[in-house]
Amino acid sequence: MNHDKISIACPDDWHLHLRDGAALATTVPHSARCFRRAIVMPNLKPPVTSVAAAGEYRQRIVRAIPPGGSFEPLMTLYLTDSLPIAEIERAVREPWLAGVKYYPAGATTNSESGVTAIEKVFPVLERMQELDLPLLLHGEVNDAEVDIFDREAVFIDRILQPLCERFPRLRMVLEHITTRQAAQFVSEADARIAATITVHHLLFHRGDMLAGGIRPHLYCLPILKRDVHREALRTAATSGNPRFFLGTDSAPHPVNEKESACGCAGIYTAPAALELYAEVFEEEQALDRLEAFAAFHGADFYGRERNGARIELVRESWTAPARYEFGGDEVIPIRAGENIRWKLAGNGP
Ligand code: NCD
Ligand code: ZN
Repeated sequence: MNHDKISIACPDDWHLHLRDGAALATTVPHSARCFRRAIVMPNLKPPVTSVAAAGEYRQRIVRAIPPGGSFEPLMTLYLTDSLPIAEIERAVREPWLAGVKYYPAGATTNSESGVTAIEKVFPVLERMQELDLPLLLHGEVNDAEVDIFDREAVFIDRILQPLCERFPRLRMVLEHITTRQAAQFVSEADARIAATITVHHLLFHRGDMLAGGIRPHLYCLPILKRDVHREALRTAATSGNPRFFLGTDSAPHPVNEKESACGCAGIYTAPAALELYAEVFEEEQALDRLEAFAAFHGADFYGRERNGARIELVRESWTAPARYEFGGDEVIPIRAGENIRWKLAGNGP
């Protein structure tokens, strides 16, 4: 393979926050420039808790796709303590509805309506298992007694392991994994368990966020961990194991809500995500595995066709903009004002 240029099947983003309203004019083109499909998170205000609301949100996203662009939003339902089972039955009838998202109540941005105790949703999970609708997990406990850096590992022991036993056929994706424990759990689990890995958790560790000054634009949830965890994620992402796939968790917030005494969690990575994954895979001498991680594994797990169209990345340095317009506000992207080593050839597909 010529390593100044790589050609891969068009990738998909299996975990994405697009927000709503005027913000879509920024977020949708940034994702659509290289991703063919994306699983869109439902943590709007109010959350997307019905198939009807997901369908309307989907239409607003579709209207924001640039002319001639090809981008398929796959929607999710937000799991609450009281999501009716009938909604699951409606969900499986829609080919554009990909799964149900579990947030522990209060764990992250707009998760106030999330699940307060996992037992409350057992009947819904039962039906999802019967109908083979995947469960997408924000894998952290929201427990004041558990240190924020331990919340993912504790979730695996307290919630995920028991869920795997209770629902032996339920397909589950542990989203945006951040720890060695999560990588190990998924690689040892059976084939119905998978994980998404963000580019920021491959690039940064907690020292990058906290040493020499606090960098609010690197604050996200689950929070960046020690470097050993980043190393374990790099090993998992580049391993070729089909249970690990690309999910950016690109999560924009207006600049003043990030640069604040109580800043929001979320990093806006979509404008450069694929290019930065290429940087990581190159550093790991695994560029030949980028295509499977970005374009094959997720499609296979979700039982969708792999993309036929292709995309090219060239080794050509460019400078990420300092900020982007964002629904009447501004958003600061990952690597703002800094160099990025890989670039999409042309304008993408
Ligand atoms: C996400 C957001 O802002 O919606 N934030 C984040 O830090 N990742 C929510 C989430 O995925 O936890
Ligand atoms: Zn997310």
